[in-house]
Amino acid sequence: MNSQNDVTYLDNAATSWPKPPEVARAMTEFLAHDAANPGRAGHRMAVAAEKMIDRVRKQLTEFVGGTDIHRLIFSMNCTDALNIAFKSILRSGDHVITTMLEHNSVSRPLQSMADAGFITLTRVGFSPQTGVIDPDEVKKAITPKTRMIAITHASNVLGTIQPAAAVGKIAREHGVLFLLDTAQTIGAVPINIAIEHVDMLAFPGHKSLLGPTGTGGLYLHTTVNMDDLMAFREGGTGGDSSTATQPRLMPYLLEGGTPNTVGIAGLEAATEFVIKHDPAKTLAHEQALVQRFIDGVADIAALNIYGPSGPHAAANRVGTVCFNVEGFSPQELGGILDESFSIAVRPGLHCSPYAHRVLNSFPDGAVRVSPGHFNSAEDIDLLIQALHEIAA
Ligand SMILES: Cc1ncc(COP(=O)(O)O)c(C=O)c1O
Repeated sequence: MNSQNDVTYLDNAATSWPKPPEVARAMTEFLAHDAANPGRAGHRMAVAAEKMIDRVRKQLTEFVGGTDIHRLIFSMNCTDALNIAFKSILRSGDHVITTMLEHNSVSRPLQSMADAGFITLTRVGFSPQTGVIDPDEVKKAITPKTRMIAITHASNVLGTIQPAAAVGKIAREHGVLFLLDTAQTIGAVPINIAIEHVDMLAFPGHKSLLGPTGTGGLYLHTTVNMDDLMAFREGGTGGDSSTATQPRLMPYLLEGGTPNTVGIAGLEAATEFVIKHDPAKTLAHEQALVQRFIDGVADIAALNIYGPSGPHAAANRVGTVCFNVEGFSPQELGGILDESFSIAVRPGLHCSPYAHRVLNSFPDGAVRVSPGHFNSAEDIDLLIQALHEIAA
């Protein structure tokens, strides 16, 4: 049970909870002392805020295997980072390849651009059994006009980890930009942009990085030519105010307006915590909890798990699993778990309608359970027991 409010929180794929106590402490401390608007040429408090931001840029750049802190842009969340990526680099006539596993944060901006006749779009499928895409299908979809391949690192419905390095290699060999949406992996799955051949990496701060909501970012590898980028939102940069339009300097080209300094201060403490606890160990912990769940409900005949199930079902997964129980809609089941058992899960389509269509669970969706860093085997056992009671 996840402490304070007697809730067994199993909705970490939406946002992680609880956060390490260090996060709230860092935010309170920053608010009390340095919470001025950052600016290199400003007073001492403004300089202190700017220094903190640069420290976190460095920390996160190194965390994803990057080399240039100026290529790390802060954003409001992963959705924002993805929009910045698409809208700053895609040009009229470009072809983009994506997948049926994507979250609406990838699907919708790309679909809008396609509907407007600005880009053309190909969505490759995935296997409902393994829950992964086939890199060869991505390769086959490449045309002379293909400018970008945009995929999620792990499905937010099935939890399955995608073959990012293989897709990245194909993209690099074809001179195509590779954008990786790490919403479900950063902080839980070790990530290195060099190994995965990633050109653009979008991430949230508030999921497995354990930071506050309102944080996220985009890292642009040195393989992305800055001359190809258009400003996404224009405004104040806290630095050179003389130019008529957004300065061409990174990170200011893609960052306008006052940043979420308080959130970023919390994100620094969160990332430190994540590094200290080793993402590889967190992944093993989450996989053990998912496997415990799958094993524990195997005797409920009416319960159907989506994607891999059986003894090694969690081997290629983050801490996420979806299921339905015959005779209950996902919304009903989620409501019963919440109201009668104080267990927080997420019913519905999980912003991934294409994935649910492939899984035959559209339009109602499924119930998603997503244990995180702070969940225990007892949390999973409470859920298993509740599902046995409900199914009986
Ligand atoms: C795969 C995936 N991409 C993008 C997002 C959007 O992230 P955010 O909520 O930080 O905007 C999510 C959120 O759940 C997600 O699961």
